[in-house]
Amino acid sequence: MAASEQIDVKKDRERRMKWWHDARFGMFIHWGLYSQLGRHEWVMNRERIPVKEYEKLADTWKVKEHPAREWARLAKQAGMKYMVMTTKHHEGFCLWDTKMTDYNAVKRGPRRDLVQEYVDACREFGLRVGFYYSLMDWHHPDGARCASDENARRRFLDFTQGAVHELVTKYGKLDILWYDVSWPLKSPELWESQKMNKMVREIQPDIIINNRSQLPEDFGTPEEHIRAEEVGRAWEACMTFNGSWGYMPYTLPEDWHSTRDVLKMLRQVTGGGGNLLLNIGPAPDGSVPPEGSERLVPVGKWLAKNGEAVYGKVDRADGRMEWTPIGNWSLKGKTAYFWCDRWPGSVITIGGLRTKLLKASLLVDGKPVNFEQKGEQLFLKGLPEKNPDEIANITVIKLDFEEQPSQKLGAGCVVLE
Ligand code: GLC
Repeated sequence: MAASEQIDVKKDRERRMKWWHDARFGMFIHWGLYSQLGRHEWVMNRERIPVKEYEKLADTWKVKEHPAREWARLAKQAGMKYMVMTTKHHEGFCLWDTKMTDYNAVKRGPRRDLVQEYVDACREFGLRVGFYYSLMDWHHPDGARCASDENARRRFLDFTQGAVHELVTKYGKLDILWYDVSWPLKSPELWESQKMNKMVREIQPDIIINNRSQLPEDFGTPEEHIRAEEVGRAWEACMTFNGSWGYMPYTLPEDWHSTRDVLKMLRQVTGGGGNLLLNIGPAPDGSVPPEGSERLVPVGKWLAKNGEAVYGKVDRADGRMEWTPIGNWSLKGKTAYFWCDRWPGSVITIGGLRTKLLKASLLVDGKPVNFEQKGEQLFLKGLPEKNPDEIANITVIKLDFEEQPSQKLGAGCVVLE
């Protein structure tokens, strides 16, 4: 690619992705036939359930009225800005009104276009719309044999491209296309990913595409861990809430991430300039497991007061700021946000900051905090004895510096004054 073309690609990506970077936080929805079994969305594979037997689940799936509105309302309450729903998971069952196969939610069980309902709910609640689509397909007769049989590969690619084409044409403006597992074909050429994504972008010029069609595209997708990609590359950590993507009633309350865990994950992604896509596996009828909503509503309450430390354009804190035993950072220009999650009492000491501090305040109410900078030590004083945050024991202290701060601690310690 010529240099000027590369600049255009970069500019176009920045334009398309601005809202996504600002949004930071989204809801993943894994919902399908497997939800009825409640033993993870890989249950068909893990229990070696024969296709013919698994197919029966297509007729027994009963869905209540408008569950997607419940998800969208919760996402909104939780401070999430977008959603991504499984339109077809590895099991192969299509949740939309497709002409590509009769194995779909309109012809079988629910007898409704669940994707349409989801899109409507996102729009009603002002959330951006993402579609998850699994390339791997355990139901399609060519889904596995395409690896060794050229005619099967052609048929399977026609099916895949046809399905993706429907998804990007039938539902108006889409914001995210989230591919998954590209088994069994071993290269993007064999998948014809370039051609497929070009078709998608022609129809949806603003869409953002993830990296799971074997092309890097717009963003990376670390799964079940939070690790920042190299500087300049967008990333989104996708995380289960309780260890399973699909509905899993066989959990204990302690298997679920707490409100505090979720906020810490948000701190971590924000500090690394990434996003968090947190999963809900609705019950077969579409209801949200109460463990999920009980934890997410307080997340939203916390964000309503402290969202400034999370949303919008951030700078990466990793590489600039260091971990401390009592908290960690997010960063926006000259402002650093210290997320204190182990409150030590009325004085907080932070080492290694050489930049001049102009102002310190509690993010939650703007109350000024007294401070003193002495050599390499910053003392924040006159604070309450106990962590003032009643939602999750995470208080953010906003520090406005004269210039963009940096913190140097290293491993050694020879402080002479
Ligand atoms: C994986 C799993 C899948 C899940 C996905 C979410 O690749 O196969 O079940 O949907 O990750 O990131």
